[in-house]
Amino acid sequence: MADTNTLKFGDHDYPVMSGSVGPQVVDIRKLYSETGMFTYDPGFTSTASCESALTYIDGDEGVLLHRGYPIGQLAEQSSFMEVSYLLLNGELPSKGELDEFTHTITRHTMLHEQLATFYRGFRRDAHPMAIMCGVVGALSAFYHDSTDINDPRQRMIASHRLIAKMPTIAAMAYKYSVGQPFLYPDNSLSYTGNFLRMTFGVPAEPYHVNPIVERALDRIFILHADHEQNASTSTVRLAGSSGANPFACIAAGIACLWGPAHGGANEAALNMLREIGTPDRIPEFIARAKDKNDPFRLMGFGHRVYKNYDPRATVMQKTVREVFDALKVNDPVFEVALQLEHMALNDPYFIEKKLFPNVDFYSGVILSAIGFPTTMFTALFALARTVGWVAQWNEMISDPAQKIGRPRQLYTGPTQRDYVEIGKR
Ligand code: CMC
Repeated sequence: MADTNTLKFGDHDYPVMSGSVGPQVVDIRKLYSETGMFTYDPGFTSTASCESALTYIDGDEGVLLHRGYPIGQLAEQSSFMEVSYLLLNGELPSKGELDEFTHTITRHTMLHEQLATFYRGFRRDAHPMAIMCGVVGALSAFYHDSTDINDPRQRMIASHRLIAKMPTIAAMAYKYSVGQPFLYPDNSLSYTGNFLRMTFGVPAEPYHVNPIVERALDRIFILHADHEQNASTSTVRLAGSSGANPFACIAAGIACLWGPAHGGANEAALNMLREIGTPDRIPEFIARAKDKNDPFRLMGFGHRVYKNYDPRATVMQKTVREVFDALKVNDPVFEVALQLEHMALNDPYFIEKKLFPNVDFYSGVILSAIGFPTTMFTALFALARTVGWVAQWNEMISDPAQKIGRPRQLYTGPTQRDYVEIGKR
């Protein structure tokens, strides 16, 4: 180790940079040109891919801050619209700024009418995430006037469009799967109330938004709004680094989010809780999760960054109770979840590996109680995370240090050899 400001490697010193809080980083940009070496970091566990002022996580302490504000405070006291403004603009809005922002988002909620025919090309049993990937990617074909990434105004319009249209897109994916007519947005409702109506309402009768459900879902959206340089956000940044348009970049993020190790975990967690069924079967599943020869993992448990209770899971657990009470739900799955959490947190395997419930452990339980089918869970995550994705994408485009992302590799394949004709192989 060199002095406090540099890391010595061979004859070269590499500057150590400090952020406002959190681990320092070694600036190795000149490593290859000076030493001919790359770094090797599969899964980027030790790599800071960018500078960012949006979200801070201290995984050991279970801290999550958006623009400095703790997630618990935002979830309890703020709204998804306000958090969206905060992530995009850096500061909490004044009353006037929030009203204007909400108005702008509300005015962008409708989809180009032609997109309805696009949906009809899908099978009725298509997974909503397959539809989301396709429809969001296709938005660039409909909104040419906001794809110039070098124009800050077009970037902001595209960002507003994406945030505004995601609920409509997700609700339409649901409606298509159940064979009900699409509902147009109702601009008199809140962002989340409007989404609930487009999902669960029907044109034949009025839909009354349940304020407790509306608040719970809004809070779930806040909890999923951004999460630093996670896999899907890094995918959005990588796609965006080539200059791709924002709609294509967000579609790439949705594709990445779909995986069961990332956004697909809430669906997998609820399926697991239902499969467990009754508390007496919990030990069997805990034993499977600990068995090295069994690929089974406790879904909704563990996190790349949190080695402590995920602060989002704390809020989720509280929200389950509120929703269950409000809707008078009596689903044994919540009891199974509580007992599974208790047993795992007292098991040496989970203690030693610092495996705690993550945001997905309870979110599926709430979403199911509200009436969403499991296939919609990841679509809801994508809806909320769109705010983080567009905020991170905007930050990246404005960053003077931004370059096309191009990792290198440790090559272990054959060295050069001559082509052999097919008859001689
Ligand atoms: N159940 C049982 N064992 C686990 C689990 C689990 N859920 N998670 C990690 N482990 C073990 C793993 O087997 C490994 O053991 P060993 O060191 O003996 O090989 C050790 O813990 C470290 O695991 P890892 O896979 O190297 O850790 P990671 O940081 O690469 O993975 C993770 C993080 C989230 C992919 C993983 O914990 C996991 O697969 N969890 C279940 C899926 C899940 O809930 N994902 C949602 C993440 S939160 C939502 C989001 O932000 O997208």
